[in-house]
Amino acid sequence: MTKIRIWDLPTRLFHWALAICFAAMFVSGKIGGGAMTWHFRIGYVVASLLLFRLAWGLCGGRWSRFSAFVCHPRSILSHLRGKGRFEHSIGHNPAGTVSILMMLFFLLAQVTSGLFSEDKGEAIGPLSLFVTQATVRWVTAYHKNVGQAVLLLLVSLHLAAIAFYFLWKKNNLITPMITGDKLLPDNVQPSSDAPSRRLAGAILFLACAGAVRWIVGLGD
Ligand code: HEM
Ligand code: HEM
Repeated sequence: MTKIRIWDLPTRLFHWALAICFAAMFVSGKIGGGAMTWHFRIGYVVASLLLFRLAWGLCGGRWSRFSAFVCHPRSILSHLRGKGRFEHSIGHNPAGTVSILMMLFFLLAQVTSGLFSEDKGEAIGPLSLFVTQATVRWVTAYHKNVGQAVLLLLVSLHLAAIAFYFLWKKNNLITPMITGDKLLPDNVQPSSDAPSRRLAGAILFLACAGAVRWIVGLGD
C-alpha cells in the first residue's frame, strides 16, 4: 500500500469553498435585509464554483472526472451489500456518486432560481426582469421552500454518510478530501496534480467567474 493522489488540489479547493459558501448562503438568506447583498455576492461565487466543477468533471484529474463516477443501480446495490468492486471505491463510491450528483443538480437549481427570485421588491435577482411576475413568484417559492429543503436534506445525508463511514466502517473519507491522498495498492493510477494542472484549474475557475459576471450583467 502506498499514498496515491486521488483528489487534485482544484477538486479539494472546490469542495471546501463550496461547503463554506453553502453555510454562508443559508445564514445570509435567513437573515435577509442588508445581508442579501452578501447572499447575492456569495451566490455568484457558488455559481462560478459549480460551473468550474462541471468543466473539471470533463478535464480534471483522473478521479474527479465524471467518466470515473460509477452510479449504475447494480453497482450501488453491490456496494451497499458490501460486495462492490474494488476499483469502484478508489474515487467516489457508487452510493456517494448518486448523492454528489444530486447535490450538484439541486445546487445548480438553487443558484438558477435565485437569479430569478425577488424578496418583496427589496432583493431583486438580476435576471428577474426577463420573466413575468407570475414566473418570479413561483421561482421564488421554489427557491425559498422546495430548493432549500431538498438541499438541507441532501447535505444532512451527505454528512451522515461521511460520519457512518468514519464511525462504523472505520473508513476516513475526510482526510483524503483535505490532503488529496489515499492509501492504496501501488498499481492504482493517480490523479495528475502537477503545478501546470493546478494553474489550468485556476484559469478555468477565472473563466467560469467571468461567465457568471457576464450572465449577471445581462440584467444591468
Ligand atoms: C464539514 C462539512 C463537510 C464535510 C466533512 C464533507 C466531506 C466530504 C467528503 C469526505 C467527500 C468525499 C466523499 C468521497 O470520498 O466519496 C465530500 C465530497 C463532496 N461534498 Fe462534502 N463535506 C462537507 C460539506 C459539504 C457541503 C455543505 C456540500 C454542498 C453544499 C458538500 C458537497 C460535496 C460534493 C459536491 C462532493 C463531491 C466532490 C467532488 O467530486 O468535487 N459537502 N465531502
Ligand atoms: C447555493 C445557493 C443558494 C442557497 C443555498 C440559497 C438559500 C436561500 C435561503 C435559505 C433563503 C431564505 C429563504 C427563507 O426565507 O426561508 C434564500 C432567499 C433568497 N435568495 Fe437564495 N440561495 C442561494 C442562491 C441564491 C442566488 C444565486 C440568488 C440571486 C442571485 C439568490 C436570491 C435569493 C433571494 C432574492 C431570496 C429572498 C426570497 C424571499 O425572501 O422572498 N439566492 N436563499
